[in-house]
Amino acid sequence: MTLPREATLVILTGAGISAESGLRTFRDANGLWENHRVEDVATPEAFHRNPALVYRFYNERRRSLPGVQPNAAHLALARLEREWAGEVLLVTQNVDDLHDRAGSRNLLHMHGELLKGRCLGCHAVLDWPGDMDSDSRCPACGRGRVRPHIVWFGEVPLEMESIYRTLERCALFAAIGTSGHVYPAAGFVGAVGPETRTVELNLEPSRVADAFREHRAGRATDLVPAFVAELLGS
Ligand code: APR
Repeated sequence: MTLPREATLVILTGAGISAESGLRTFRDANGLWENHRVEDVATPEAFHRNPALVYRFYNERRRSLPGVQPNAAHLALARLEREWAGEVLLVTQNVDDLHDRAGSRNLLHMHGELLKGRCLGCHAVLDWPGDMDSDSRCPACGRGRVRPHIVWFGEVPLEMESIYRTLERCALFAAIGTSGHVYPAAGFVGAVGPETRTVELNLEPSRVADAFREHRAGRATDLVPAFVAELLGS
């Protein structure tokens, strides 16, 4: 099925797109995330109980970013945004900066970003390339403590209104490298219109695979460049 060149496309990505860059996915290690239980590092309760552990955990994740590079799948999605005549909205659940470095600009990080912090006092969102701890203070208000700008379990993801508005009017929705375990992202496929083309690109079928009309199985670095070339007709 060919799409009008000015159609709106929404692409959702998950940890699978960064796997071949060397970043571990979440659900490939028995519920452990880099040797930690999610409840110990990725919930507001964990931050309240043991802030030092949570700061350290995200400091380590942040420090690992300069050692990894965008792969062919990230680069292909940046190409799609540059060359497609209509809007391409890229929504990622990933907190790494690989889409940004690949060149995607119409990009929403719905689960936050490792390289940002948020002031607990004035709520300013701040660029934060280095380490963060309990003594870190907000440069905007000069007083507030700073937390990682990460959406933890139990918190509301970012930019939901604009994501749903675009889902309702998109002609194509594609989900890449996400297991479909975590909502609301897993429910996006159900928010598109009845005519929308829906495609899942993943190593194995996700938990919500049945909701997609088309499926492509394989590695993101193989599937995504080919899919983008197909959409661009080259
Ligand atoms: N190419 C394509 N898909 C891959 C690849 C690859 N090279 N490697 C793994 N995958 C797929 C897996 O088959 C799996 O379906 O990527 C998916 C990764 O799933 P998860 O680890 O569950 O990651 P994700 O869906 O992004 O998790 C969602 O859960 O822990 C939270 O907030 C965290 O954003 C995260 C959210």
